Amino acid sequence: MTAPNIRVLPTADAMIAEAADRIIQAASESVDLFDRFSLFLSGGSTPKPLYELLASEDFSDVIPWNKVEVFFADERCVPPDHPDSNFRMIAETLLTKVPLSRDNIYRMKGEIDPNAAAREYGVMLKEKFSETGPDFMLLGMGSDGHTASLFPHSEALGEKKHRCVAQFVENSTTGKSWRITLTAPFINSARDVLVLVAGEEKAKPLQQVLEGPPDPDRLPLQLIQPENGRMAYLIDVAAAGMNEAD
Ligand code: 6PG
Repeated sequence: MTAPNIRVLPTADAMIAEAADRIIQAASESVDLFDRFSLFLSGGSTPKPLYELLASEDFSDVIPWNKVEVFFADERCVPPDHPDSNFRMIAETLLTKVPLSRDNIYRMKGEIDPNAAAREYGVMLKEKFSETGPDFMLLGMGSDGHTASLFPHSEALGEKKHRCVAQFVENSTTGKSWRITLTAPFINSARDVLVLVAGEEKAKPLQQVLEGPPDPDRLPLQLIQPENGRMAYLIDVAAAGMNEAD
């Protein structure tokens, strides 16, 4: 386990451009090594412009999409066409815009029983990642310190055995709701974890995550520490608690 690499970018746009470059680099490295690239994506508002950028003309043919498999870090338990669905947002902004085979998109089924969906996803992950861990995890952080759907004081934080679980969350970003989420041990088996954090409202929790005493029950992002992989944070100046002039 090594200390995370932390980079502060002057604007949210610069943060997104840097994230796109890192995904392109990681994809090329993985394709050279393993002839495939497993990319785990998160929902939320922060990565949306990144997905749009990756789908834009300048970027869409830089990534070898025929070698990419897309997975999800978490899902809200709603049908795939629901406004809250992470799959819907990511499909609309990226997956339907690039030459990615449908067979290479592994979504969490938000429309079925949450525990059954989590079990099904976990079985699939166990089969696919029995020998090598996932290549790349893109994560965000909520202003309560959650990441994926690992919310403060929730049961999933203590999960050691399963790769994916479902839980009912009282105070999620979408209110009281069921979520499906990767667990910390599975996320920590990735080769690369990249966390994007933007906006002033994230400055205080981010500082507590990075510099405060360990309190992962309150700040679940602290659980994310890849065992053998690399971890990086890309932060805009607002989330770093700085002004652009600093
Ligand atoms: C989700 C996400 C979640 C997200 C954070 C940050 O489904 O809500 O995967 O973990 O990354 O809530 O979201 P924002 O970028 O919208 O602040």
